[in-house]
Amino acid sequence: MKNIKNFVEEVKVNGYKKIPDFLTSDEAKEIEALTLEAFNLAEESQYHINEEYSKVLSINKEDTKNFSYLNFLNDFFVDPMLEDFIKEYFETEDIEIVKIFLAESSNTGEEVNVLPYKMHFDKTRYLKFIIYLRDVKKGDGGTTFAKKEWNTKLQEELLARDALKEENVVEVYDMSAVDEIIGPAGTCTIFDTNITHKAGQVLGNNKRLVLRIDTRKKV
Ligand SMILES: [Fe+2]
Repeated sequence: MKNIKNFVEEVKVNGYKKIPDFLTSDEAKEIEALTLEAFNLAEESQYHINEEYSKVLSINKEDTKNFSYLNFLNDFFVDPMLEDFIKEYFETEDIEIVKIFLAESSNTGEEVNVLPYKMHFDKTRYLKFIIYLRDVKKGDGGTTFAKKEWNTKLQEELLARDALKEENVVEVYDMSAVDEIIGPAGTCTIFDTNITHKAGQVLGNNKRLVLRIDTRKKV
């Protein structure tokens, strides 16, 4: 894992940050293989989604001790560098790495325009780490972000009226303000779900494979 210590400020200011080479290509390859093995060995109840076009395993820290095929994920739950980053980001010692999701997504054959594929921000605030385990090129469903100023005002307005929903759609007209994260396996994006973002839809033949770490301030 690359040392990301120096990027806390940037995530605070911009809401997100792309980290190329967070994992080396060898590390990404190894985790890809272990992830596929986990998909094979996991029990049905460990699946958040298990459908034709989408497989998602949801894993907590205990699971990484109790199931040998999930051991490889324990590193992420106990990594001091990650922990320090999250503490510094939220400016508190009281943080938690809530869950890790392993997700493989493929092309469903139709492009949709619904949440979470529309630009939005979330009510519940998480700091998420999205690590690509396979190359993500245009059309492979990279996560997309808009600069912070696009939702700050709207967010304040909705908050003031007590009208904040779990996911709040943001109309972004200036496409130059939008940034789709593509990159080779091992690329990581750190982001605050409070910033305008959208999930990527896979539109080609490549199956996207992502390891996502969800963290937050303890509530
Ligand atoms: Fe979201």
